[in-house]
Amino acid sequence: MCGITGYIGSKEAVPILMSGLKKLEYRGYDSAGIAVLKDNKIKIVKCKGKVAKLENLLEKGAPKGNIGLGHTRWATHGRPNNINAHPHNGCNSEVVVVHNGIIENYTSLRERLISEGHNFVSETDTEVFPHLIESNYQDDLTLAVKKSIKEIEGSYAIGVISTRDPGKVVASRCGSPLIIGIGEGEMFLASDIPALLSYTNRVIFLEEREIATITKDGVEIIDSEGKILQKEVINIDWDEEMTEKSGYKHFMLKEIFQETMVIRNNLEDRINLSTKTLELNDLFLPLDKIKEIERISILACGSSYYTALAGKYIFEELTGIPVEVDYSSEFRYRKILLGKKDLTILISQSGETADTIAALRACREAGSYILALTNVRGSTISREADSVMYIKAGPEIGVATTKAFVGQLMCLYILSLYFAQVRETLDSSEINKIISELIKIPQMVEIILLKDPEIIKLSEEFHKYHNFLYLGRGINYPIALEGALKLKEISYIHAEGYPAGEMKHGPIALLDKTFPVVVIVPRDKVYAKVINNIKEVKARDTLVLAIATEGDKEIINIVDKVFYIPKTSDILYPILSVIPLQLFAYHIADRLGCDVDKPRNLAKSVTVE
Ligand code: M6R
Repeated sequence: MCGITGYIGSKEAVPILMSGLKKLEYRGYDSAGIAVLKDNKIKIVKCKGKVAKLENLLEKGAPKGNIGLGHTRWATHGRPNNINAHPHNGCNSEVVVVHNGIIENYTSLRERLISEGHNFVSETDTEVFPHLIESNYQDDLTLAVKKSIKEIEGSYAIGVISTRDPGKVVASRCGSPLIIGIGEGEMFLASDIPALLSYTNRVIFLEEREIATITKDGVEIIDSEGKILQKEVINIDWDEEMTEKSGYKHFMLKEIFQETMVIRNNLEDRINLSTKTLELNDLFLPLDKIKEIERISILACGSSYYTALAGKYIFEELTGIPVEVDYSSEFRYRKILLGKKDLTILISQSGETADTIAALRACREAGSYILALTNVRGSTISREADSVMYIKAGPEIGVATTKAFVGQLMCLYILSLYFAQVRETLDSSEINKIISELIKIPQMVEIILLKDPEIIKLSEEFHKYHNFLYLGRGINYPIALEGALKLKEISYIHAEGYPAGEMKHGPIALLDKTFPVVVIVPRDKVYAKVINNIKEVKARDTLVLAIATEGDKEIINIVDKVFYIPKTSDILYPILSVIPLQLFAYHIADRLGCDVDKPRNLAKSVTVE
């Protein structure tokens, strides 16, 4: 939530700050602003609205200077308007701050600062930062920031500039991500890697409560007690092209069409094609650990929670290990009953979701071993987990996750097959059989993507409805949930996902001809049961779209529309069935003129509680 950029060097700061903000807009887009420091003056330009609106304003005259900060906001405290937009300054425009996070004790700090004579103009929690730094300033900006963050409760990533100490940008973080990009005679600051890729691949990840003093020639990082730290510089293997739309109308569509590549990336180096065995050299999870696990807990939020639910089916089926799945946000406030024989798997595309980070820390305290599935190298979750398995999706910019969802599913298949191999819960011929099917999945995905025009036609027929029910059973139930989430988050159409067998216990009351049902009904072991559920739906005059297996002739006589996916093993259907649902949501939202990549009220990384 909220994106931060910063620059210090010898080039004009504004174009660099703006190009970074465009790459970070997925983090929030209800207002945007920049601040530039030159000749002992800081000029701020900010407005309500997206980065494009700020860009229009800047075209009329952008402030000149080589040091600056940028911000794109997702409102928490104070509605989106020009005044609440960042950057915020102190009383004399001498200290300017951009912030991502929530200051929990801002009311008491604000009252104290007002009683000391500070004048506040916005409704934000952030505004206490510049006033606090101003009041703690003696002769060094870094020391003022160091003193100030000791008084802050809550989460923050901040960039600070000041006319009192002009040759530097000071940055710090706690709970919200912040990265320093290293250039030649110039340095960068950003909330996430895509904002830096046009300029550098060399980055340093700031850790909790560290403070960075950035000049154009380098960076000095201290801990909260002032001790100078030697930090590792990491080379990121993503390139700029990965963060462009590459001719697609939206990032979401590009990312769906990249799913074949994501699946191949996940198979590569992890499956020995000649022996059909798994070799997880990139997973530093000791074999003894895998053998002694008695229970697995999978924790995640949003769509990642739905892959976790699919993970329960996959792990229990292939390894026989009991699996519990929970929302990170619920888990973290319950009594935690984990121990040394438990494995906790955290799933997070961004690796920065605040609730999942908090769940990770709670599990760590309980003594559970922690494995993270994440897309982002260097993210907080990747750094704090005991082992990491990367989902190899490349940068995902569209706010609604698609390719990362598929990458997460792939990791869960590969991981559970690997556990089955290590624990010998399946014999090698069974493992061989599933691997043989798994390696055919990329071609099958290509076949589905080639049928995109069919989905465009379906979207034409279905986009006028205001309510949808998505049904699935067994391992396809989480995919029904994901299909419904995709539709509602980008098209604002109400959609509910439900287990097909549960429908008659309530949701059936909603059904009539204005309330279409999308049902996932592959030829698997619950096929006949789902057909019965579809008949119950059809008896209510409801329009039904089925996602069914190629060659299923029976289904067309029962439902109104069918989209066929290729035949695979029962357990692998989710990876195929989710793709038409992603495309269906995309084309409906696009047809309705929605801002698909930046849906209202959402942000890609939910870095606040
Ligand atoms: O980065 P994470 O996987 O931890 O994010 C979790 C959710 O915030 C995310 O999946 C969210 O639900 C997306 N809007 C789904 O499209």
